[in-house]
Amino acid sequence: MVDTTRFEGRVAVITGGASGIGFGAAQRILREGGKVSVWDRDAASLAALADKIGGAVHTVALDISDAAAVAQAAETTFAALGRIDILVASAGITGPNPPLWEYPVEAWKQVFDVNVHGLFYTNRAVVPFMLKNDYGRIVNIASVAGKEGNPNMSAYSASKAAVIGLTKSLGKELAKTGIRANCITPATVDTPILKQVNQAAIDYMLSKIPMGRFGTVDENAALICFLASEEVTFSTAATFDISGGRTTF
Ligand SMILES: NC(=O)c1ccc[n+]([C@@H]2O[C@H](COP(=O)([O-])OP(=O)(O)OC[C@H]3O[C@@H](n4cnc5c(N)ncnc54)[C@H](O)[C@@H]3O)[C@@H](O)[C@H]2O)c1
Repeated sequence: MVDTTRFEGRVAVITGGASGIGFGAAQRILREGGKVSVWDRDAASLAALADKIGGAVHTVALDISDAAAVAQAAETTFAALGRIDILVASAGITGPNPPLWEYPVEAWKQVFDVNVHGLFYTNRAVVPFMLKNDYGRIVNIASVAGKEGNPNMSAYSASKAAVIGLTKSLGKELAKTGIRANCITPATVDTPILKQVNQAAIDYMLSKIPMGRFGTVDENAALICFLASEEVTFSTAATFDISGGRTTF
């Protein structure tokens, strides 16, 4: 059931919105009346985005691990669309799958540069614009891996635990304002990110889901859009599971 007015008058920044979960969220916010600015490093996908998404979309090509580029993107989006009400921070990478004691140091740093530092830069850049209107909804995309830890995904798991911790701090800092900051912890979704992971890791992740299947982009977009909506008033600094029963705490 699509409410074509739910995001009327709202502007959403979606990092990683050129693909997968971010794309699904961007498409749904657009369909439900919002304006969308997609920030992604995949310039080719951004160029084709309006056709694929089925509507006008503002885009910024950037690497979120570049703090100055992220700060500039917030200014550019505000100048183009007039406000920033929603952030869906979906850009992320998995890194490789060796055990921790063989994990390449540079790969570990890269995972943290994108999943933690990039998400920090993004949250940091948009909050001042949300404070202008004393309104905002932040949805950070963590992972079940951040709660449970996946073997051979130590950098990824640790980075997603950091996203949960960051969101808990930020939500408390903003609790007396009109901004709500929450995160979601999906179990595996069949998106292009799985090309970065080996088959053994994919098999492991599927075996841990009691429903016996992966989640879908649409299921994640539905939860993200609820958390990005005005209806969410008393939830902040919280972690919402979407895991087919995998997460039990
Ligand atoms: N798919 C899953 O199984 C799953 C499960 C739990 C959590 N997540 C998380 O959901 C988020 C989205 O994943 P997805 O499955 O949609 O993956 P995806 O690969 O389909 O999309 C990720 C997007 O992020 C962009 N991106 C990556 N690094 C970037 C950077 N440095 N700067 C700017 N853009 C960058 C990519 O270009 C891509 O468009 C990620 O944070 C991921 O960790 C995914």
